[in-house]
Amino acid sequence: MADLSTDFVGIKSPNPFWLASAPPTDKEYNVRRAYEAGWGGVVWKTLGEEGPPVVNVNGPRYGAVWGADRRLLGLSNIELITDRPLEVNLREIKSVKRDYPDRALVVSLMVPCEEQAWKAILPHVEETGADGIELNFGCPHGMAERGMGSAVGQVPEYIEMVTRWCKQNTRMPVIVKLTPNITNILYPAEAAKRGGADAVSLINTINSITAVNLDTMAPEPMIDGKGTHGGYCGPAVKPIALNMVAEIARNPETAGLPISGIGGVTTWRDAAEFLSLGAGNVQVCTAAMTYGFRVVQEMISGLSEWMDEKGYTSVEQVVGRAVPNVTDWQYLNLNYVTKARIDQEACISCGRCFAACEDTSHQAISMSEDRVFEVQDDECVACNLCVNVCPVEGCITMEQVAPGQVDPRTGQTVTEKYANWTSHPNNPAARAAE
Ligand SMILES: Cc1cc2nc3c(=O)[nH]c(=O)nc-3n(C[C@H](O)[C@H](O)[C@H](O)COP(=O)(O)O)c2cc1C
Repeated sequence: MADLSTDFVGIKSPNPFWLASAPPTDKEYNVRRAYEAGWGGVVWKTLGEEGPPVVNVNGPRYGAVWGADRRLLGLSNIELITDRPLEVNLREIKSVKRDYPDRALVVSLMVPCEEQAWKAILPHVEETGADGIELNFGCPHGMAERGMGSAVGQVPEYIEMVTRWCKQNTRMPVIVKLTPNITNILYPAEAAKRGGADAVSLINTINSITAVNLDTMAPEPMIDGKGTHGGYCGPAVKPIALNMVAEIARNPETAGLPISGIGGVTTWRDAAEFLSLGAGNVQVCTAAMTYGFRVVQEMISGLSEWMDEKGYTSVEQVVGRAVPNVTDWQYLNLNYVTKARIDQEACISCGRCFAACEDTSHQAISMSEDRVFEVQDDECVACNLCVNVCPVEGCITMEQVAPGQVDPRTGQTVTEKYANWTSHPNNPAARAAE
């Protein structure tokens, strides 16, 4: 059996699955149940400084985007940091950590951008026995307007400064959580490293408006007729997060800086992808909020089985495996040629591939009068659009061909097959000209 345990900046965890700082980690009751369900670690919902209570909206705080099957693809929220008193959170953190010493417990923090404020809170967190801190430089709403969260995360100099203050004032490992609401993720990542960060975690949520209510003419979620931008997360943001993780992993300035990967992790496969692109572990929020804590069981068994199948005995062996294969466009092999292939047995003759190719791409798919669709290799530029619009999984695939290769099904080479394409009966342009 593969060993799923991880050591992330000295923080040990029985598996690489941590709950991200958010409602699932807002209180002792939740975190105990999360550990019992199998989560390897949690990042406690962001704590702020002692003072007037944080007050959340009392109307809906989430907006969403769904797939056609009503599966949640993207979630947007306008929630603030914890609205529970600091001393209650600290007491609960201490109690949970005492009872679950083998699980990771990291405390997320967001206080004003003043050294004194950070100096004041750090000893309280240390006293709980927590394993580390995560600096929330990412929250894009509510706190940013008060000069915290992404207002800090968008200015590399501030990131460096605050990270340095924390490193100077605590023995705990410091993880800097990055906002994706920037132009180039390398600037904040490099700043965190310069400030002495032990690791970065990313991504926090993306500025978004998920929908506009066309009756009230206000964005959703709507609070008494008004809305505001929220932070977007869930499966929809995974591609953005994967790219940012890969960028940091392959950047010479930040190579080797541990990364905690966050953004849309829903299955073991998502997690394996983050690990392969350089993340040392993953954090999960939306999947837990959608499916409950037990979703981690599928992640654990799936990752474990896949690692066994592939012969990986430790998570470390997976981390960064795909990074050498992430390159810049100019290094891609332009002599690598593929063509689309339609499996006629699987084809349901819907014609989506034809419409997409004929109307918007390269006119490389022919349609016979009885709706048989075939790829005309000479015109196919291998763009892959037909594969992506086809509703039948595996019906259209890309096949590598060598120039002059004979198609075993027709006995013709790629160029011979449609040599007479301009007058071919399956060519809609030729038919139209008749
Ligand atoms: C309702 C909600 C509240 C959140 N609150 C925090 C927070 O207090 N601190 C923080 O660092 N991130 C917060 N996040 C962001 C998550 O920790 C995470 O970075 C983001 O949701 C992306 O992960 P996911 O796609 O798995 O949800 C919050 C997310 C949601 C949905």
